[in-house]
Amino acid sequence: MSVQWFPGHMHATRKALAERLKTIDVVIELLDARLPGSSANPLLAELIGERPTLKVLNKEDLADPARTAQWLAHYNAQARTRAIALHAHTPGPARALVAECRRLAPHRGGMVKPLRVLIAGIPNVGKSTLLNTLLGRRAAKAADEPGVTRQEQRVALADDVYLYDTPGLLWPKIVVPESGDWLAASGAVGRNAYDEELVALALLRVLQADYPDRLQARYRLPQTADAIAAMPADELLAAIGRKRGALLAGGRLDPHKAGEVLLADFRAGALGRITLETPERYAAWREAALQAEARRQAERAARRPVPAGPRPRRPSAAEGGPAVPPDPGS
Ligand code: G4P
Repeated sequence: MSVQWFPGHMHATRKALAERLKTIDVVIELLDARLPGSSANPLLAELIGERPTLKVLNKEDLADPARTAQWLAHYNAQARTRAIALHAHTPGPARALVAECRRLAPHRGGMVKPLRVLIAGIPNVGKSTLLNTLLGRRAAKAADEPGVTRQEQRVALADDVYLYDTPGLLWPKIVVPESGDWLAASGAVGRNAYDEELVALALLRVLQADYPDRLQARYRLPQTADAIAAMPADELLAAIGRKRGALLAGGRLDPHKAGEVLLADFRAGALGRITLETPERYAAWREAALQAEARRQAERAARRPVPAGPRPRRPSAAEGGPAVPPDPGS
């Protein structure tokens, strides 16, 4: 699916972020534990560069624990990187953040060299919730919507630890098509930017492959898990829609509404703890998407007309050329 969502004010956000990063010791990158690869903003990775990074897999209460463990191992094997999983509403684990940041920048701390931490993440990943939990109060939202304050805010997590909050940073183009679907399914993308039915069908295909028993239990489907896994996705969505009364006048199925039902259940965790990607699967999607993009660019370059070179000089009559003056209009 193609989702385009880089409003003009994002360029200003990006610039402000690049400026702030110059004085930052540790970056906390907040990810959605159900889609860690897809919720990582490549633009942010580019801006972070070599800075120590704490990857926080938030909403772990909604994610598949076995896959969360895989992602944590994947990130913890990377240089200058630590990773933890969190449920942003729970205070104890949230406080572990500060200890992890200190570990990443042991040379900072104390009143003379306070630890400066920046937190960034895509919209709806749970940044405000985490800040509220960390601060024990209602923190103002540094929102990504136009019209709401887009200023960064600085809060003290300890006497010598400052946290800079930034508005959500979107990215200009989602290269991995699966990522567009998962971002929409998770609620990170505004509803007008995608088609609910198409996103629900993409989600359903993964659920069929990885969690068919959950579909069976949630929607009380008569088929076995194996049969559910083998069904065409549109038929399965129709069966779910009928079970949940997603009908138009006259009793016809409303596939759009059926899609909404599935997406709402996924977002609320009603299908159980689900993670849509593993590190290996995400790497394969990304590789395929990059290759497809390279092919598209090569095809575009091949179609481009060859630029006209300088016009060949007309040989003079002495050189054997025609003995007529050049056309004044040429
Ligand atoms: P943002 O600042 O990054 O945009 O996200 P925000 O904190 O507003 O969180 C977006 C939604 O995700 C909220 O739900 C919030 O409660 C939920 N959320 C955040 N962290 C977690 C988590 O670790 N686990 C779960 N299960 N949910 C989380 P909402 O329905 O939009 O708002 P609300 O009614 O809960 O306030």
